[in-house]
Amino acid sequence: MNIAIFTSGGDCAGMNPAIKTFVEECYTREIIPYLIYDGLEGLIDDNIKKASHCDVSGIIYRGGTILRSSRSKRFFEKEHRARAYENLKSKGIEKLIVLGGDGSFRALDIFYHDFGIDFIGIPSTIDNDIYGTDYCLGVDTALNVIRQAIDDIRDTASSFKRAFVIETMGRECGYLALVSALTCGAEVCIIPELEFNLQTLGDRLKDDVKKGRNYAIAITAEGSNMSEKIEAWFENEIGLESRITKLGHIQRGGNPSVFDRLIASEFVINALDQLSKMSNNHHTIVYKNGSFDFIDIDTVSSGTYTIKPELLKMGQALCR
Ligand code: F6P
Repeated sequence: MNIAIFTSGGDCAGMNPAIKTFVEECYTREIIPYLIYDGLEGLIDDNIKKASHCDVSGIIYRGGTILRSSRSKRFFEKEHRARAYENLKSKGIEKLIVLGGDGSFRALDIFYHDFGIDFIGIPSTIDNDIYGTDYCLGVDTALNVIRQAIDDIRDTASSFKRAFVIETMGRECGYLALVSALTCGAEVCIIPELEFNLQTLGDRLKDDVKKGRNYAIAITAEGSNMSEKIEAWFENEIGLESRITKLGHIQRGGNPSVFDRLIASEFVINALDQLSKMSNNHHTIVYKNGSFDFIDIDTVSSGTYTIKPELLKMGQALCR
């Protein structure tokens, strides 16, 4: 059997350990592993290569993806998908593993319905916003990058008696912001999932300032679009000089954490088991309540990820 792997959409830490496990496991199982470079674009342009152990040696600790990534519009046109299919057919590749988000899974689902190429999607995004899974590859590393940044900013905030608004990524999802706020001791957290009340929040903070608080940390999710407003609120309502730090793409980098290295391997091993045992795979592997399962792409695409209620409840104290 010949199986190929590729990375698609926003990169994240953990992709390289997954690629390494894929190649090594394939050789153990007498499967021929192929690497597709540049995501769906490389699939169209035949940037596909049989993998050797050398391709994946020394990559386990590296962030990003050695296969590079892309967001492809061309793949949504049938003529380009037909080229992609011919590229796979010429190499005898019958099955795919894709590390990406639900946009990439949807694209491959169309491909599956066109040409019957089986695939398993491994949820990989720092946003942790894919329906059906508790965890997406890369989230733990991103949270640790954010934690380091917040700890560092706290040094200057406390030294200079300032409020800092620290904006995290996550698209429409507030998971990164919420978990970071809860684990880094922020005073304020603003995310799309929680209603906030600046009046009551302000009363509490002003009281703290009266009692001696002279700096503060607020974490905002990019999807809340509130960073500038919170900065002005700190200055005008709370009376603290304020600055904004948008963490940006630094959150996508960094050496994969131990957790991401391990779960990367587990995702890949389970995906290979499924592809070897079963046919008609057009599924996402999910990690739910501590174990792995497979759900079809339609279910993943039509559902909306929600942060678990226990975490949201804890976050309420930081936004009202
Ligand atoms: O999906 C991952 C992510 O990093 C989001 O958190 C962010 O909104 C977006 O990608 C940034 O996209 P780009 O890399 O295209 O600027």
